[in-house]
Amino acid sequence: MKENTVPPQYKRHIFVCTSCKNDNFCENDDYAKELRSELKAKCKELFSKDLLRVNASGCLGVCNEGIHIVVYPEAKWFKLASKESISDIINYLNSNS
Ligand code: FES
Repeated sequence: MKENTVPPQYKRHIFVCTSCKNDNFCENDDYAKELRSELKAKCKELFSKDLLRVNASGCLGVCNEGIHIVVYPEAKWFKLASKESISDIINYLNSNS
């Protein structure tokens, strides 16, 4: 395997689960994708795209607790329960930048 020695220098990388594997809990893939798009648009508006990236991820393994995001490098998890949660996440990003 060849290492990429010049990776992008994001200060933060956010992963949003958008692909539930558990039919009993998360039939919310479309809503997760909608929330991810909205979070991504808000982040694009407020932060440099060179410093922060928002990606869709597969299942994060906590489907029974709802849609989640993980913010790296701090590995902080948040429940993305609704569009209102996006402003809480933005506040977190602003107050911890
Ligand atoms: S889809 Fe499984 S944790 Fe979100």
